[in-house]
Amino acid sequence: MRKTNVAYRILVGVSIIFILYSLVRHYVFDPEATAFLSHKTGLKRELNLPVWLKIMYIHVAFACLAMAAGLINFSSFILEKHRKIHRINGYVYVVSVMMVVLTSGYMAPYSTGGKINSIAFNIINIIWPLMTVMAIVQIKKKRIVKHRNYMIRSYAFCFTNMLIHLITFMFNEGFGLAYASSYTYGVYSSLVLLLIFPDMIIRYLKKNEKNKTIGTYFS
Ligand code: HEM
Repeated sequence: MRKTNVAYRILVGVSIIFILYSLVRHYVFDPEATAFLSHKTGLKRELNLPVWLKIMYIHVAFACLAMAAGLINFSSFILEKHRKIHRINGYVYVVSVMMVVLTSGYMAPYSTGGKINSIAFNIINIIWPLMTVMAIVQIKKKRIVKHRNYMIRSYAFCFTNMLIHLITFMFNEGFGLAYASSYTYGVYSSLVLLLIFPDMIIRYLKKNEKNKTIGTYFS
C-alpha cells in the first residue's frame, strides 16, 4: 500500500473519532459546556449564556461538517470516479468553513484567557477563509495541484480545536501550568503548527509526485 494511502486512512480514523467525540461531548454529555466555561474567569464582556451556547452548537455542527466534507474530497476515488460529488461536497465544505468562521467571530471576544487569545482566533478567522477561497480560485483556473495544496492548507484548520485542547492539556496537566496560560500556549502553538504542518505535507507530496502521473490527490 502506498504511503499516502496509509496517511489518508490514518486521517480518516483520527477525523471520524474526533467528529464523534465532539458531537457526543457537546450535544449529549456536556450540552451546557460546563467544563469549558468553568475556566472563563474575569471576562471583560458579560457572556450571554443562552446565546453563546446556541452559537456554539452551530459552530460545532458546521465544524464537524467541514471536517467530514473535506475528508471525503481528499479521496482520489471520489475525485476520479464521482467528480460531481467532489464539486458539490466542495461547496458544502466552503459554506461550512464560512459558518465556523462566522460563529467563531461571535465567540472570539469571550475567549478563555482574554484578548490575547481572541486576537489569535481572529487571525485564524482571516487566514482560514483566505486559504479556502484561494483553493476555489485555483480550481477555477484549472490548476489542480495548486487547488489541492490550498485545500490541504485550509483543511488543516479543521484540527484547530483538537490541537488547542491537546496542547492545553499537555501544559496544564503535564507541566502544571494554570489553565488560562496553558490555553494561550495551546491557541498560539496551534496557529503556528497549522501553518507549518500542511506545507511539510505539500513538500512531501511534491517529492512523491515526481515519479507519478498527475491526478493523484491524497489517498
Ligand atoms: C473545525 C474544527 C472545530 C471544532 C470541532 C470546534 C469546536 C469548538 C467547541 C466545541 C468550542 C467550545 C469550547 C470547547 O470545548 O473547545 C469551540 C470554541 C471556539 N472555537 Fe471552535 N472548533 C473548530 C474550529 C475552530 C476554528 C477554525 C476557529 C477559528 C478561529 C474556531 C474558533 C473558536 C472560538 C473563538 C471559540 C471560543 C473559544 C473560547 O471561548 O475560549 N474554532 N470550538
